[in-house]
Order: sequence, then C-alpha cells, then structure tokens
Amino acid sequence: MTTDSNYAIHGSTAVIYLDNPPVNSLGHALRVQLDAHLRAAIDDPSVDSVVITGRGKLFCGGADVKAFNTPMSRAEPSSRSIIARIEAGTMPVVAAIHGNALGLGLEFAMSCHYRVASPGARLGLPEVKLGLLPGGGGTQRLPRLVGAQAALRMITTGDAVDSREALELGLIDELIEGDLVEGAVAFARRIVSQAPHRVTSRMRAEPVDTEGSTTAFFAAQRAVLERDRRGLAAPRECLACVEAAYRLPFDEGMAFERERFDVLVNSVESKAMRHLFFAERAAARVEGVAPDTAQRPIRHVAVLGAGTMGGGIAMSFASAGFQVSLIESKPEALERGLGNIRKNYASTVSKGRLSQADVDARIARIGGTLDFQAVAQADLVIEAVFEDMAVKKEVFEKLDAACKPGAVLATNTSRLDVNTIASFTRRQQDVIGLHFFSPANVMRLVEVVRGQATSPEVIATCLSVVRKIGKLPVVVGVCDGFVGNRMVSHYAREAEFLLEEGATPQQVDRALQDFGLAMGRFAMTDLAGLDIGWASRKRLAPTRPAHLRYSKVADRICEMGRFGQKTGAGYYRYESGSRTPIPDPEIDAVIAACAAEAGIERRPISDEEIVERTMYALINEGAKILEEGVVQRASDIDLIYVNGYGFPARRGGPMFLADTIGLAKVYARICQFHATHGEWWKPSALLQRLAEGGKTFAKPE
Ligand SMILES: NC(=O)c1ccc[n+]([C@@H]2O[C@H](COP(=O)([O-])OP(=O)(O)OC[C@H]3O[C@@H](n4cnc5c(N)ncnc54)[C@H](O)[C@@H]3O)[C@@H](O)[C@H]2O)c1
Repeated sequence: MTTDSNYAIHGSTAVIYLDNPPVNSLGHALRVQLDAHLRAAIDDPSVDSVVITGRGKLFCGGADVKAFNTPMSRAEPSSRSIIARIEAGTMPVVAAIHGNALGLGLEFAMSCHYRVASPGARLGLPEVKLGLLPGGGGTQRLPRLVGAQAALRMITTGDAVDSREALELGLIDELIEGDLVEGAVAFARRIVSQAPHRVTSRMRAEPVDTEGSTTAFFAAQRAVLERDRRGLAAPRECLACVEAAYRLPFDEGMAFERERFDVLVNSVESKAMRHLFFAERAAARVEGVAPDTAQRPIRHVAVLGAGTMGGGIAMSFASAGFQVSLIESKPEALERGLGNIRKNYASTVSKGRLSQADVDARIARIGGTLDFQAVAQADLVIEAVFEDMAVKKEVFEKLDAACKPGAVLATNTSRLDVNTIASFTRRQQDVIGLHFFSPANVMRLVEVVRGQATSPEVIATCLSVVRKIGKLPVVVGVCDGFVGNRMVSHYAREAEFLLEEGATPQQVDRALQDFGLAMGRFAMTDLAGLDIGWASRKRLAPTRPAHLRYSKVADRICEMGRFGQKTGAGYYRYESGSRTPIPDPEIDAVIAACAAEAGIERRPISDEEIVERTMYALINEGAKILEEGVVQRASDIDLIYVNGYGFPARRGGPMFLADTIGLAKVYARICQFHATHGEWWKPSALLQRLAEGGKTFAKPE
C-alpha cells in the first residue's frame, strides 16, 4: 500500500498525481511511481476506479525530451507497460486534464478509458515540430477517437486544441467547470454505476469516421503535405501512421508506428529540429544578465516612422495588447502607413484568422500622430526612420530631450553602429537595437543588439517584451550588419560570382530551393528590391579594400532601372500583376558582359558547387562572428538564420549544417576555395582550430 502524497483515496476512487516538476514529464522516476500507484489501486479491493491527474499547473507536458535516444527513455516500467497495465485491468481509469496534456502526456491520457478536462486545457501532439511522430500510440489512438480528418490535422501540424474543441471532437468525455479532481471523481462514480464501462481506445477497432478512411482521402492529404511541407519527412510519416490505423489491426499499427518513429528519431531532420528547440532555450540565457534581473514595466510603446518597418512593428505591439503611438514627420507618410496597417489587418480578417471586432480593437490601440512629443509618455520607443546616421542623430538627440527617465530607446537600424547611435544621448545604458525583420508583423526573429553600454536591465526588459509580442529575441553584439545581414552579404557575394562564372539566376535559385531555402537568392532580391543594396554599395565603394573582387552584375541591373518586382523586372522579368519570376535573356547578356569584362571564362557550374559556395560562405562568416564574440554560441546563429532568412529548419541552421557535414571537410573545402577564389575565403581561425581538434560548433571544448 502506497501512502505518499501523490496517491489518495476518495471513497472508492483512487486519485493518482503525476508529480515531476516543472511539466510532469513522463521520465523514468515518474513512471516508477505511477506504476506502483496503479498496482496499489488495482490490488486494493476497496477501490473500483482510478483518476489520474497532474500535480501543479498541468496534467503532463510529455516525454523527457532530453532522454530521447537514450536507454532511459524505454527503461521499465516503460510507458507501454504502464498502458498495458491499464488496458489489462477491468477498473475504469479517468485522466483528469488541466493546463496541458501534450505529446506522450496526451498519448497516455488517450490510453485511459475516459478523459475529462478543465476549461482552457490544451491537448496536442506536437512531436512533428521536433521532426518526430507521436510514438506512444498517438497515431493509432487519436484517429480512433476523433476520426481521420481531425487526427491528421492535429498530428501533422502539431497544434493543440483546447478542451472545448476536444469535447466537440470526442477527444474528451466531459468538461469539468469546477474543482477538477472532485468533478473527475464524480464522473468515475457515474461510470462505475453504469457498468459495463467503455474499453480503451485500443479496442475500438473500427475507425470512427468512414469518410476519412478512403484511400482517396489519404492520397489527397499526402499531395497537400508534399506541396506545403516540402522536403520534410516527419509530416509524411505522421500521415503514413494515421493511414496505418485504418489499414492495420491495432497491435500491427502500433508496431508500424514504432518502426517509423525509430527511423525519424535517428534522422538529421529530427536532430536538427531538436537542436533548434534547445537553441531557443539556450538563447534566453544571456551572459551578464542574471535570470532575476529587474525589468522595467512596458505599457506604452512609441514607434517612430510609419514606413515599411514601423507599420509592422506597431501592428505587432498593438496585436499583443500594448498601447502604441505611431509617430511620423510627414502627414502623407502617416496616412499611407495607417492605410497599410488597415489593409494588412483587413486581409487577416478576409482569411478568417481574426474577427472584425478583434481587428477594430487592435487598430484602436494604435494612435497615429505627427507630434513628436508623444514619445514623452512611452516606456519603450522604437525608432524606424530612414537608414541614415544624420537622421538617426537628430532623432536620438530629440528623444534624449523628450523621453521620460528610464524609457528604453531602441533603434531598428539594419546596419548602423548602435554604439554611435547611443552616443547621441546622455543615457547610453538605455539604448539598444531591436532589429525586426520584414514584414515585421509576420517575421518571428528580432536581433536584440546589445551596445557596449546597454544595461542588463534594458536587455532583460527587451527580451521579455519581444517574447510578449510572440517573437523570438536573440541577443547579438554590434558589428556591421549584426549577425544575419553580415552573413547574408557573403552568401549574396558568392551567388553573384557564380553567375559570372557560368550559372544563371534560375539555376542558382533552383539549387538553393532544392536544398531547402524558402526562396532562391535572386527571386528573394527581386522581392525585397535591389535599390537599397545599390545605394549602400555606392556609399561604401570608397572604403572597399582593393585586394577583394566585386561583381558588377547587381549594379548593372540597377543601372537599367530594374529594381525587382516593384519595377516589373530585376534578375527576372515579371508579367504585370504577377509575382512569378520569368528568366530573361537580357539578364543573361548582362551577366556574360560582366564576366567578359572581369576576364572570367564561363564554365558549367554544378548544383553541388552552388550549394557549397553559398553555404560555406555563411559558415565561414558565422565562425568569424562566433570567434569575435558577437554571439554567445553557435546555436544563436542557427536561430537567426532559420527564423529570419528562410533557412530550412530540417537542416538546423548553417552552423548545425557544418557540424553535420563535419568541420574537417568544411574547413578543407574552404581552404580550396581560398586557394582558387582568393581572399574573401580566408578561413576563420576558430573553424580551423575546431576542425583540427576534431570538435564541433555545438561542443567546441
Ligand atoms: N525594410 C526592411 O526590410 C528593413 C528591415 C530591418 C530593418 N530596417 C531598418 O528600419 C528602418 C526603417 O526602414 P523602412 O524600410 O521602414 O524605411 P521607410 O523608408 O519605409 O520608412 C521610414 C519612415 O520614417 C519616416 N521618418 C523619417 N524621419 C522621421 C522622423 N524624424 N520622425 C518620424 N518619422 C520619420 C519617413 O517619413 C518614412 O515614412 C531603417 O533603419 C532600416 O534600415 C529595414
């Protein structure tokens, strides 16, 4: 007989608590305890039913992700043998869910006879987000409970449903409004009195919905996944397993699921996605910023400049409930900016993602004004005016004079020196970079640029506020272009050189897309516009080192007035009203002329060379960034690339990619490129040291 506090008897119902803070993950120690409690209940003649619930704020957050791929994940009592015990018994077991039942937590709940839940509880199988599938029976049990359509949606997106939707779907049996344990015990009493009670989800051999069970249904769903989740194995395998639930008897379906899980858990895709999962947690730990660092309260945000970035930034804050003042210098720019905001929100309504009432409330939180003095009320100011140091100087001097003491002063500059910008104020400790990505209302990444004087309090405040608006903050130091844009310029350089050496824009783009990038380099540039890069090249031309080669292709294209999609032509041409890039012989001629002028004999270029030249350029620069201490760890760079630049998550980011290939191989190839293509390819000293020492970016020591 167990007597500890995680086992209690209510009348003839045993109540078992899952107790493993912080998320009650089903690690080995918890399984040992749970198994003992279940045996105690089954062996106790005065007990006729069991309620299992979670201690603390939630039912169960899932498996112990850290134990994946280790023997402990399957050590006895395994979750399978615990489930077998529930299924073998005659006693009804009720899972009482509050907070979260995720992953293995939900799989376990589904293997109980009944499920009840509190309002607001979230139930989901997020494994696909880690490149996995639910390997604890989820793919076999969920379709039996909710049907193929809903099961497939939940399993292939990994998105949770709340308890109300779960009730509608048949995933839970009852919503308990009051005290959960009391309600669950009362539910168990009713079940016992209505014997015979239901068997568990394993025994329901027949699929619940026949509509979803047809071969045509799965073929159509497979085609959708191939289109929307290109190159990803996990969603495909999830679908194969759900289909198996309709094809195979339960035990064979379980064996199929286990086999597919084992393939995924050892795949690069899943290792990459788990790497990114842990990278996000690591990025929250910032040197010199203790976890208990005081934060400044942020309620009112002022955004300066209602252009491309300012509008999106204002939307992000308003959507998260902040009061926003959007400050412009020109009435027509303010009108245009507010108009764009309204248009963007209207499109969200038309797609059914937000209600008109929601949007009205959000728009009402944005106050557009031409009065600079509105900054005086703000707890946080984000400057998004023209990228020109003279303009930034004027603005920051005015901010210094007008803002209240303690206000956080942020700049959204893409490349300018945040320390110089801070020096325009007498409060350098309050100045920081918050580098949003375009479109700012959509993109998740924010580079948090720490100046030499930025206080830990200001960094902690910004990390927290960026998370509150649903974005991912990654702290970086000051250097030209910070991390993302600094690296991307090396990638862009190689893409351009490849054109001169013999490739076409469409070949480069296709090779990069096949590799997994969301868009190829040149289609992307056409979308973003070529004029900004042209202006900055002209500005920087006098300071260019003479020993480095520069391609003239982009300049020539700009001189033709081709600035990308907005002018109907760039590296490609575009039919009016269309965004589809069409290869253009005029551009082939420009490229050939540039190559001839530079004395380059064009040759056939392989797709492999395109990928190596562009990716290794990223890796080499990433290593230099790391060795300069601009970021704390290699995984920060991976987060920036995956969340800001369309780098495929299944490859884990450029630094993870390098580790996967092997640093010795990467270094050797970079040395070859150095010998063939010159000084741009000077290998990073850190890369050399790690390669020669047999180390990785993930474990450099
Ligand atoms: N566009 C991008 O993709 C991108 C991405 C990240 C960062 N950034 C950076 O964000 C900043 C803004 O870029 P953008 O693309 O939104 O520029 P933009 O030209 O679209 O908008 C700038 C706006 O600022 C307004 N403005 C100028 N001076 C002002 C002042 N003193 N007070 C108030 N408003 C003023 C202008 O009227 C204009 O509407 C720049 O520093 C840029 O480098 C841009």
